[in-house]
Amino acid sequence: MNSSEIRERYLNFFKERGHIDIGSASLRPENDPTTLFTGSGMQPLLPYLLGEKHPAGARLVNSQKCFRAEDIEEVGDNRHTTFFEMLGNWSLGDYFKEEQLGWLFEFLTKEINIPKEKLWVTCFEGDRVLGIPKDTESAEIWNRLGIPEERIRFYDSKKNWWSRAGTPENMPAGEPGGPDSEVFYDFGTEHNTKFGEHCHPNCDCGRFMEIGNSVFMEYVKQKDGSFAPLPQKNVDFGGGLERITAAANDNPDVFAIDLFSRIIDQIESASSLAYSDSENKRAFRIIADHIRGAVFMIADGVVPSNTDAGYVLRRIIRRAVQYADKLNIKHGHLAGMSTIICEEYKDSYKNLHKEMTHITLTIGAEEGRFRETLKKGLSILDREFPKAKDLKKGETYGVPPDLSPIKINGKFERSYVPTALDGKWFFDFYQSFGFPLELAVEELEKKGKRFMPYEKDELRSEFNQEMKKHQKLSRIGAEKKFKGGLADHGEKTTMLHTATHLLLAGLRKELGEDVHQAGSNITAERARFDFTHPQKVERNALDKVEQYVNDAIAAGAERMVEEIPREEAKNSGVEGSFWERYPDTVKVFTFRDKKGVIWSRELCGGPHVENTKDIKGRFKIIKEEAVAAGVRRIKAVLG
Ligand code: ALA
Repeated sequence: MNSSEIRERYLNFFKERGHIDIGSASLRPENDPTTLFTGSGMQPLLPYLLGEKHPAGARLVNSQKCFRAEDIEEVGDNRHTTFFEMLGNWSLGDYFKEEQLGWLFEFLTKEINIPKEKLWVTCFEGDRVLGIPKDTESAEIWNRLGIPEERIRFYDSKKNWWSRAGTPENMPAGEPGGPDSEVFYDFGTEHNTKFGEHCHPNCDCGRFMEIGNSVFMEYVKQKDGSFAPLPQKNVDFGGGLERITAAANDNPDVFAIDLFSRIIDQIESASSLAYSDSENKRAFRIIADHIRGAVFMIADGVVPSNTDAGYVLRRIIRRAVQYADKLNIKHGHLAGMSTIICEEYKDSYKNLHKEMTHITLTIGAEEGRFRETLKKGLSILDREFPKAKDLKKGETYGVPPDLSPIKINGKFERSYVPTALDGKWFFDFYQSFGFPLELAVEELEKKGKRFMPYEKDELRSEFNQEMKKHQKLSRIGAEKKFKGGLADHGEKTTMLHTATHLLLAGLRKELGEDVHQAGSNITAERARFDFTHPQKVERNALDKVEQYVNDAIAAGAERMVEEIPREEAKNSGVEGSFWERYPDTVKVFTFRDKKGVIWSRELCGGPHVENTKDIKGRFKIIKEEAVAAGVRRIKAVLG
């Protein structure tokens, strides 16, 4: 069965059970500064899981584009991809465990004909400290559905708890989460005792693959670290389309599914190598995955750069180039491969086809830029190489001094890593030139340097330590930087968010229709709002805008939310920037008072107050300044 059929069957199955298909949100999250990419279907639905009413109702379904940058280094095995589609269904305080597990089982075994004997499931074993009970209810449901007890396993919160932040200890106050129940497909391959004495669903030996996760999102973390029930019990289900397709075809290689077949063929013809040859698999998979991810990112408005999402895009294109080089694929082929992805998805994600020229040109240009950088990187390796080669025996850089020589190919040998080329050096080199450790090591090996296996392990561990340090620093940096969107979804931040919609409407009324939003940054204390306008806005104009917002608050305008086709919204004069980042169906927030006066009508993802009267305090513009050519910034508070 191919992936399009599985996607369609899944959406129809849940639509027949009262769900509305809400379509995929952009890969670039709106109003969520905590993450660069949408990494799961629930992310855009956060306000609704916390209790806000969703305009489409309490039963939702979609196939969500996801990107997980944290998995970049994992790609290359049979199951990891950075980009994937997550089939998702949600109950917002409607059905719960019985229906969810029953429907999921029916979908897997009847709709797409996965034999039930192949399925194993896991449930939450409970946590006494947190006061959260063992999930025997889910286990009983699975058992009744036909999964025997020996294929139902219990795990702790490391495996069977889900929140955006991971385990309960890592969740910040206000974050929703809950126990989950995962479904695994058993490929029946032999267990490798390297991964532990006994095999089990969460074993990493490759026998099992997780194909779906039903999260029972019913808790919210409190400031004191405890958990309270959410106002409603939700279901958040997510299952990777690519993995489900692999399971339906009983083939453990996700890269063997239809979605990848044309790009794999293309890599074969560009390299004259076969994917079936196990030596090539890793490079083929990395190229196929990274080009697909890059195509989707570019289509959602990301451009290669040295920061944030643009940096991740740059990294995956450059990694694809490096692996293309390994397969002797000539300059220019990657851009061609991106057109294949656009074609492959032309029915399911129409914007790829529309943006095809832009996507191809972007990938081609980045490949060219990178080749220049690579040349420089290789010349640095040339320069450093003698340091590795010329070391005299007896020096023990990076090698424990008491370590006896090791036998390789029948000969006793020992090689040395100079201090200049330790894990930190390789990490810095990676940061500057994008050379992953293994490729740099390979380049040195090509030049004749011998690395002993333990040296490689040591370098890898030093390199990873550096990477962790760097990630920690960037996380702190990102928290400090907090450039756009809402800092949180608290009451005050939400009030200020609605107030900025009114502010934009007031600015457009006062200064003209050329004013559009250029960025925003809203916390519980203040709103910072950037907009297009060529010159300083005088105080008397600011006073009028301020008055407009306060009049709108006093008018008690009610929030109305509609989901309409993007083009229809655009043509009907709805205010919005970044149209290209939005899915085909968009959400429009309108604030209209009892007399029918529309105070604001704008494209947005929420959250917003229900009535402008809920905005407490008087809106005040406390600063107006320039930020860039043609862009002004207003700082405002509710006093
Ligand atoms: N939100 C859950 C996940 O991403 C379904 O696994």
